[in-house]
Amino acid sequence: MFETVSTAPPDAILGLTEAFQQDSNPEKINLSVGVYKDAEGKTPVLQCVKAAERRLIEDEATKSYLGIDGLPEYRSHVAGLLFGERVPAERLAVIQTPGGTGAVRLAADFVSSQFAGAKVWISNPTWANHQAIFQAAGLPIETYRYLNAQRTGLDFEGLLADLTSGPVAGDAVLLHACCHNPTGVDPTAEQWQQIAAVLKERRLLPIIDFAYQGFGSGLEEDAAGLHTILDHVGEALVCSSFSKNFGLYSERVGALTLVAEQADAATAGRSQLKRLVRSNYSNPPRHGASVVATVLADSALTAQWHQELAEMRQRIAAMRQAFVTRMRDSGVERDFRFLLDQNGMFSFSGLNPMQVDELRSQHSVYIVGSGRINVAGMTEENLPRLCEAIAAVL
Ligand code: LMR
Repeated sequence: MFETVSTAPPDAILGLTEAFQQDSNPEKINLSVGVYKDAEGKTPVLQCVKAAERRLIEDEATKSYLGIDGLPEYRSHVAGLLFGERVPAERLAVIQTPGGTGAVRLAADFVSSQFAGAKVWISNPTWANHQAIFQAAGLPIETYRYLNAQRTGLDFEGLLADLTSGPVAGDAVLLHACCHNPTGVDPTAEQWQQIAAVLKERRLLPIIDFAYQGFGSGLEEDAAGLHTILDHVGEALVCSSFSKNFGLYSERVGALTLVAEQADAATAGRSQLKRLVRSNYSNPPRHGASVVATVLADSALTAQWHQELAEMRQRIAAMRQAFVTRMRDSGVERDFRFLLDQNGMFSFSGLNPMQVDELRSQHSVYIVGSGRINVAGMTEENLPRLCEAIAAVL
């Protein structure tokens, strides 16, 4: 039977890391996958995580299965980070998931299984995996405008016009809470108000992808768009992740949080989500969630986490600035100052697919085909070579 199976194309993002690993150039640079690197180009284990793991080695009492919806204390911390005291616990169903991707897939399966005919509206562009996830869940996908013609900032009129005229009541709209992937372009506070008003007026269900909390301006600041939406709309699905802000990438620690208007609806929603989980991966892994819960239950470890997260955020901002300065000094015509207004790990470089190919084949510099650059992969050491390579392909 298997002779009929054809070969699938490599993944648009993770496939590049495979290609990077096979590249023998000692000066190769990987700015593709969204992974933080420190000044030495390493993806470190945070000190607060190491401390929590030492405690767990001593104190962890069992490796028995978690409940289908995950570790209870972890789920309370997720709710606290997302909403603080804003939403009462009985209106929430928090489900621990394998990473943020697992949360998006669970949200997609939930919408597809509960709301026949619902479409999902995603920004153009969006994270390369969104389309595949919603497609796999059998949801029809539509897009709304996001980037302006210069591809440097938000096309807010286009976005608002599309959300006002396209979706019908009961459709879902996927929004990035902060640090939009792949562009780094986020709505302002005023624009969030207008987006929220459209969601409310048109009775649309927000699915909020919140993978980068703490990488924009801060843990609380980055949740402002989410809070604005919940001030207007009583229901939402929020997909969150500790891959980036705890550096727990390979531990697969995320959550899907269903926000309902009433406690009864949250209880019913939780039961349906658990059914979906049970027939998929049964129950989530324990270790990463235990690490997060250990850190967030301890005020000293939490303070250490805040400090380490701030250092990551500040290093990325410093690399944005250094990149813009160096590109200006390299004498290229293109002005890269627009990167300074963007948030999080990513920016759209504006490089076209041919230039992206040339960067890879001639310079061993790996960025995503759309022109997305992971600023968090830049270091003082690789910056000169990177900027020379970009200047050469421009
Ligand atoms: C990315 O966009 O690079 C990250 O979210 C990693 C991934 O799974 O694609």
